[in-house]
Amino acid sequence: MNNEAKFSSVHYNTYLQVDKITSAQHLRSTEVGEAAHDEMLFIITHQVYELWFKQINFELRAIISDFSARNVNEKNVGIAVSRLERIIEIMKLLVQQIRIMETMTPLDFLDFRNYLFPASGFQSLQFREMEVMLGLKEDMRTTYNNKPYHCVFSETGREKLEGLEKGNSLLDLVEDWLERTPFLEFGDFNFVAEYQKAVKAMIGKEQAAIMGTDILSEETKQMRLALLGDTNSYFAGIMDENRHNTLVREGKLKLSYKATLAALFIHLYRDEPILHQPFRLLSKLVEIDDQLTTWRYRHAQMVMRMLGKKVGTGGSSGHEYLAVTAARHHIFSDFHNVSTLLIPRSELPVLPEVFRKNLGFYFSAANT
Ligand code: HEM
Repeated sequence: MNNEAKFSSVHYNTYLQVDKITSAQHLRSTEVGEAAHDEMLFIITHQVYELWFKQINFELRAIISDFSARNVNEKNVGIAVSRLERIIEIMKLLVQQIRIMETMTPLDFLDFRNYLFPASGFQSLQFREMEVMLGLKEDMRTTYNNKPYHCVFSETGREKLEGLEKGNSLLDLVEDWLERTPFLEFGDFNFVAEYQKAVKAMIGKEQAAIMGTDILSEETKQMRLALLGDTNSYFAGIMDENRHNTLVREGKLKLSYKATLAALFIHLYRDEPILHQPFRLLSKLVEIDDQLTTWRYRHAQMVMRMLGKKVGTGGSSGHEYLAVTAARHHIFSDFHNVSTLLIPRSELPVLPEVFRKNLGFYFSAANT
């Protein structure tokens, strides 16, 4: 582009293509001669969602590109955190927008619903792209009528989704990045061994506290000890790599053993300066999962309100199907699970001084 073109003036309407956007609402009810007032709201709400999906996917593609580098530049971790924060704010808005849709009553919806068959949110390619880029794999999905989720798209759409499925998702890349964490062993310090000792000591203390109290009855003590046994078996997964790998094979966990350890380390020692940013990154992923799940629940509730037990225009069982996706389509659940593995700061293995210096910023006062 030459300089003249670069700095030529542009009008608001032309730049934003306002005419194109505002002339893209074609009410089916009007076309068939039975104008339904609320169809305008229905169309605009969906269009606004699609625009926000576009922005989310734009951010995701940029994060995925930065994280695809063999060595993720530290600066890019900060940029990714900012972009994830943006996605989270958009997702909060997507949840709120359901309230606007709900200003339409079920009866008003029925005025035009019959003209929508078989159109459905199922056919939102951008929504599927977002899910796949985040890391929702096909085998993790709940399907309806035993059909693959991509069967509703044209060949181009299916190819696009296939391409994304074959490439690395954000979850895959964050897993790789965690696996490269250099902190788990440092000289004589072996994080796993030290952590395991600390967990055993912590559970031992809790057992002793239960047994030693005279406030609880013998029966309650036994019940509490049994519950503690359950916690113990949860920790056992992180104590035993083979057991963890079996859970991954069974589809109960997604994150590799090494990546889980790294995520745990980052959570436990997040006060160390060099771990601030990685901790924020993992927290943002959990928040994205929370927001997406909140949207799924809210959307399912809205569907219940609008349709009751009616089936969806896309052919699913409607509310029932959507409620299952809300319960099952978690992408970053393994990062939620890390909370189960946390132990109090007072029980944390003390890091060797030379190691701590490596985790601090080289210019920090403590290291001078
Ligand atoms: C009156 C409002 C709405 C109703 C009654 C409704 C109904 C449904 C139903 C029944 C389904 C299940 C698929 C089917 O059988 O059709 C579905 C899926 C979906 N809807 Fe909506 N919807 C509404 C608004 C919206 C809005 C505003 C969006 C925003 C884009 C949206 C996005 C989606 C998406 C992405 C799915 C696929 C979800 C999945 O498979 O995980 N829906 N909707």
